[in-house]
Amino acid sequence: MRAWTLAEWALVPLRIFLGVTFIFAGLQKLANPNFFRALSPISIQAQLIASSHTSPMRLLLTHLIPFAKPIGVVISLAELAIGVGVLVGLWTRIAAVGGAVLSLSLFLTVSFHASPYFTGADIVFFFAWLPFIVAGAGSWLSLDAWIARRVAKQEGVAAPELVPVPFATVQTLCGKYNKGTCTARHGLACDAAVCPVLLGNRAPIATRVAIDSVDRRTLVVGGTIAAGVGVATLLLGGAVADAGRMINHAAPPKSASKQLGGGGVSDSPTTTVPTGAGTTPGILLGAAKDVPSGYAGTFTVPSTGDPGIVVNAQGTFYAYDAVCPHAGCAVSYAPSNNLLVCPCHGSEFQVATGAVIVGPSPHGLAKLKVIEGSNGNLYLQ
Ligand code: FES
Repeated sequence: MRAWTLAEWALVPLRIFLGVTFIFAGLQKLANPNFFRALSPISIQAQLIASSHTSPMRLLLTHLIPFAKPIGVVISLAELAIGVGVLVGLWTRIAAVGGAVLSLSLFLTVSFHASPYFTGADIVFFFAWLPFIVAGAGSWLSLDAWIARRVAKQEGVAAPELVPVPFATVQTLCGKYNKGTCTARHGLACDAAVCPVLLGNRAPIATRVAIDSVDRRTLVVGGTIAAGVGVATLLLGGAVADAGRMINHAAPPKSASKQLGGGGVSDSPTTTVPTGAGTTPGILLGAAKDVPSGYAGTFTVPSTGDPGIVVNAQGTFYAYDAVCPHAGCAVSYAPSNNLLVCPCHGSEFQVATGAVIVGPSPHGLAKLKVIEGSNGNLYLQ
């Protein structure tokens, strides 16, 4: 019996962790206006664009980029609702299915290239949701269980508590199959309807009617409470978003980067300047004046096809392969703190060296050699 009681508690810590984490993730997004500003390097749009380079779902993501803002709002509110649902144990299986779908989507978009695979959190979250899809919230600290007990009381039926029955007792009461006959029924055919612990669908009519009535009432009461919690969640989300806008009322960021080379260097990756022409040999990226101090330019690295980024830090140019070593999103330049920032999981890199300042990226960005020719152009060497 003690082991059974412990089993009822076993998933409570995981439920609290998932609930708090998803509530925090939803509120954090809603409270940060830059998450919804297309030009911010940490925006949902930047994440979709970054993922569209690397995700196995890149075709779909490319079409979703124009809808980045509403998608961001839906994700934020879904995280909040899922977190509240699983935390209080209300419609827990539905919340868990939502959490699993969201985690799997994030795995397929922003964590797919995490290496080793377990360093990306989304795949771990996906599997953490599965026990709640199978078993629900359990009977402890759970609104689902509270509603079930309350409805049972109102309907005058026994509370739906789980009662452990040793299998040997079940065999004694209901018998063992023995060539189609039941030893507990002295050789008669086995029949679940006469077994007191195996009523199932063959329960007496009166019992089935009572069960249907309890189920209906449970649905109505649960739905009413879920609607109330949903409205409260929406109000909370709206209030947090308003507070975030008031606190973070700075002007929206201007674009700090520009695609170099007109249509992009990717269109002309082999444009080279010959030795002895009075300029420096290399692959032309574009005019240096197109990347003023405090700005960045983006291009395609000819040798790999990866996105590249060149930053002008007070007259000195630094270029990198923009693919984040963590899971393959493309980093952007954040002029407000003069860092290269990964929109997917927040890794930050120094502009001058590419070294990691904040993980989870395991190491720094791959540096590229860029020079400014005497003709005022930037070249990749
Ligand atoms: S891809 Fe995860 S931090 Fe960059």
